[in-house]
Amino acid sequence: ALPYDLAGVRVVISAGGTREPLDPVRFLGNRSSGKQGFALARAAAQRGAQVTVVAGSTAEPGDPAGVEVVRIATATELADEMTKRAAEADVVIMAAAVADFRPTSVAESKIKKGAAGPAPIELATNPDILRGLVESRTEGRIPAETVIVGFAAETGDEHGGVLDHGRAKLGRKGCDLLVVNAVGEGKAFGTEDNTGWLLSSTGSETALPLGSKTLMASRILDQVRTLVPDGRRR
Ligand code: C5P
Repeated sequence: ALPYDLAGVRVVISAGGTREPLDPVRFLGNRSSGKQGFALARAAAQRGAQVTVVAGSTAEPGDPAGVEVVRIATATELADEMTKRAAEADVVIMAAAVADFRPTSVAESKIKKGAAGPAPIELATNPDILRGLVESRTEGRIPAETVIVGFAAETGDEHGGVLDHGRAKLGRKGCDLLVVNAVGEGKAFGTEDNTGWLLSSTGSETALPLGSKTLMASRILDQVRTLVPDGRRR
């Protein structure tokens, strides 16, 4: 049985991939399935949390039970939702695969082939939502005790620098916990299993053995729980 140790804790989780439109029918997207974010939402709800998922594109058959699901498409929309909802949350988990870039402009009608061949796609940089949330906390726009968790999808293995990249990313992002995922070659994106490390800003590093995304979610929430002040658990 799962521990009922997140009763009343307000958890906001981003999940899935963003889609950045090029024209009315095309977008730039990614292979995120939303499985890990949904698994976290399900597990947190089962442990008594009040959960909202802000979801982009997902490959999940249905919404997790007992969870509020808000749909977004683009990184900009995700940034707006997360910024707004983080102010009312005890825990914020950025599990979404956010596009780093978006087309500078969206064509009003479908882009034609044209005789001159393809036109280059001009890109603008999206805001880093996770960093923005940490900044908001530092500047007092969201409560100081809000727990902020990030994800890092890294290719390679332990020896190929995944952990080093994770440590550096944790420092750059400034979040409390970073879930480092080993991706590529059939790992993580769209698969049932996950593996990696859980790095905390206090320096602890926990290996997450290969297992289901549900198991991974439990391990992550076990650590999150230790960071939520007692008064927040009702
Ligand atoms: O820098 P990188 O994309 O590897 O960081 C991954 C983490 O940052 C994830 O938690 C992701 O949700 C978040 N992210 C974000 N905004 C972006 C890009 C990534 O919040 N524009």
